Amino acid sequence: MIGTDIQKAAALLQAGEVIGMPTETVYGLAGNALNAQAVAKIFAIKKRPTFDPLIVHIFDLSQIELLSKSSLSESFYVLANRFWPGPLTLVVEKSDAVPDIVTSGLSTVGIRMPAHPMAQQLLRLCNLPLAAPSANPFGYISPVTAEHVARQLGDQVPYILDGGRCQIGLESTIVDCTVTPARILRKGGISVEKIAEALGYQPDVLSHSTDNPKAPGMLSSHYAPRKKLILTDQKSVFSYYHNKNNIAFLRYRTPIKQHPIQRILSPNGSDAEAAANLFYFLRELDEMSEIDLIVAEKAPDKGLGPAINDRLQRAATEVI
Ligand code: TXA
Ligand code: MG
Repeated sequence: MIGTDIQKAAALLQAGEVIGMPTETVYGLAGNALNAQAVAKIFAIKKRPTFDPLIVHIFDLSQIELLSKSSLSESFYVLANRFWPGPLTLVVEKSDAVPDIVTSGLSTVGIRMPAHPMAQQLLRLCNLPLAAPSANPFGYISPVTAEHVARQLGDQVPYILDGGRCQIGLESTIVDCTVTPARILRKGGISVEKIAEALGYQPDVLSHSTDNPKAPGMLSSHYAPRKKLILTDQKSVFSYYHNKNNIAFLRYRTPIKQHPIQRILSPNGSDAEAAANLFYFLRELDEMSEIDLIVAEKAPDKGLGPAINDRLQRAATEVI
């Protein structure tokens, strides 16, 4: 059931249930992070392998005391002060209050303070830290509307809180604050450049750190549509243009003349707009019965472009 009753959602969470919740990045499948049984339900509903840890959501910085070990690094405070609430997850040493199932047995936990007003109200009202992975079956495209969640997991959760379409549309950037220099483990809603600037690093310090990310569950095939998806550079996209009706194009900025089915991520070339449209359009194209192949074009390599390309690469059956 989809609705906007935050009280009801909070009561369900307090009773150990798992619900769909909006955030500004993607919809989450949320449960009480301190209740191992509720967290086990999340893994079961999502069919998620237990080696892939969950992110814990908070609404106030003071909650960090319960969840983490007391010695937090300078990079944690710099990034939390600068980007929270927002699309950033910070990995810290976990406390004993966090059940091992949340972190897949790791000694660290990823924490995020979401900016979506409904997510904040929900967190405040239930007064619990909420473990929430993206609310999609494992491996599929992340959901950016309540209807997306309902279509795939609607019969497995008692309630989906509807907060409209996600504004960022791409998962949070994950930064490991337990090491020096801090490392980016997953590119996402905040660009590498912005993280580097806040920490006073050269961007290449952080981008080198992404060569060998240690975020578990970062599999090379993920975020994938059911249909075949070919990822091309901006030139080779034209070699697929046979005007065949069963091909859909996902273009970055400029349409292909007269092709019947295509989506343009951002007509004025804004990386934020492109990110916000990415999963929405991928789902639309994946659901069209007349389409057999999606040909997507890489985003320019700046701002949120690398995060968009990361998702497209994992979604692709073939990269040209
Ligand atoms: O924007 C987001 O981050 C969304 C919304 C719902 O908050 N959540 C999300 O969760 O994308 P999920 O489960 O789809 O991806 C979380 C990823 C895991 O796959 C893992 O790679 C990483 O976060 N992660 C979680 N805890 C970690 C830890 N202690 N160390 C390293 N990576 C961790
Ligand atoms: Mg996910």
